[in-house]
Amino acid sequence: MAIKSYVGALLLLLSFSSTIKAQVFQIENYSVTGGGIPDITQSLLDAWKKACASTTSPKVLIPGGTFTLSEVVLEGPCKAHVEFEVHARLLAPPELSRFKTDGWVVFHNIDGLTMLGGTFDGQGKMAWAQNDCIKNKNCRMLPMNLRFNVVSNAIIHDVTSVDSKYFHVTVLGCKNVTLQHFHVNAPGNSVNTDGIHIGRSLGVNVLDTDIKTGDDCVSLGDGSRQVTVKGLTCGPGHGISVGSLGKYDNEEPVSGVFVTNCTINGATNGVRIKTWPASKIGIATDMHFEDIQMNNVFNPVLIDQGYCPWNQCQAQIPSLVKISNVSFKRIRGTSATKVAVKIACSKRIPCEGIEIADINLVYKGPDGPATSECSNVRPLISGMQNPRACAKIVS
Ligand SMILES: *[C@@H]1O[C@H](CO)[C@@H](O)[C@H](O)[C@H]1NC(C)=O
Ligand SMILES: *[C@@H]1O[C@H](CO)[C@@H](O)[C@H](O)[C@H]1NC(C)=O
Ligand SMILES: *[C@@H]1O[C@H](CO)[C@@H](O)[C@H](O)[C@H]1NC(C)=O
Ligand SMILES: *[C@@H]1O[C@H](CO)[C@@H](O)[C@H](O)[C@H]1NC(C)=O
Repeated sequence: MAIKSYVGALLLLLSFSSTIKAQVFQIENYSVTGGGIPDITQSLLDAWKKACASTTSPKVLIPGGTFTLSEVVLEGPCKAHVEFEVHARLLAPPELSRFKTDGWVVFHNIDGLTMLGGTFDGQGKMAWAQNDCIKNKNCRMLPMNLRFNVVSNAIIHDVTSVDSKYFHVTVLGCKNVTLQHFHVNAPGNSVNTDGIHIGRSLGVNVLDTDIKTGDDCVSLGDGSRQVTVKGLTCGPGHGISVGSLGKYDNEEPVSGVFVTNCTINGATNGVRIKTWPASKIGIATDMHFEDIQMNNVFNPVLIDQGYCPWNQCQAQIPSLVKISNVSFKRIRGTSATKVAVKIACSKRIPCEGIEIADINLVYKGPDGPATSECSNVRPLISGMQNPRACAKIVS
């Protein structure tokens, strides 16, 4: 008798604890399209809707396999923190004509999200060939693999993004978002495939991440505040960039950027801040780049207030973006060009509070050794300086 009621209580306890543990919404009804690869678009939207309405630790689960997935918006607000776990490789439609917007998998208006696992393959090869941004400065934004729009309190980890048509990931209008053990992979010559782009967000962490792509590994647009990039391995790619800033009216200030313990391999830039000439007014302040290993990087340390790709601007008119309180500390390794450190500030609004400490960048080319150029800036210099800081002053 006693044993029976004990078992009964245990069963009750087990079933109770499993309902509070998690309610799992697994993708299971696939429709098979012409190519024979199952498509989960409708099934995912259904599962998301149910999970989002659940209050008992909901979890959307995409099991292992390869599936096609069309453009989806996974929309909140949700009733509870949602977990989104992917074991599959998901394939985007390769054709641009199958997209109505600039996002493939879009998370929108969610407070409380954990996303983990999965490979998101944008199949971008066809789209890169159709990208006309080199000729057309108002070119269309193509679909990005993952968009986080107005998401707060989110952790995204162990996710892989491959061959996005445009930026791999954008974090826009977000608060308290951490990306960790994130992997990005696209060819070095793919067009505008920025790894992680952050803008108008407060409190974003990019940790222990590995990015190989055709554009900036991490780019911070206007309104990026309190952003930490730590333990990033970048390259091929265009490095870690703040900007470009000053292209549009009403850009929000960039402040509180901490880039530490990163390795940059064979990238076109290392750490850089870029603003357009003839710009709108703007502010970028309190930005710190420390403990960075450069391996054969073309412009390891760069502030460029005359950023003008493809000569689409009035380069003679100085930028009106004010850059202040920036430090570059403990930056070492090899430069692939002679000018290893270049601080080119605006003639109208010179940089203020720039600090350069403990730099050791070696250039081995025939026109070596490495040098450093400065304009419109008087940095505070300390520690080792190889090359000598501001060896050349350019007016
Ligand atoms: C799958 O289809 C079956 C039968 O139509 C249905 O009972 C079940 O709820 C569906 N599952 C999901 C996750 O949509
Ligand atoms: C940030 O979000 C994470 C994940 O939801 C959460 O655990 C943490 O408490 C949040 N931090 C703050 C300061 O709200
Ligand atoms: C620096 O980052 C590397 C990965 O790139 C990691 O292995 C190492 O533990 C990190 N070191 C510190 C001090 O954070
Ligand atoms: C720059 O740093 C100085 C000294 O730490 C501080 O007084 C000043 O307020 C900072 N400026 C901005 C715009 O953060």
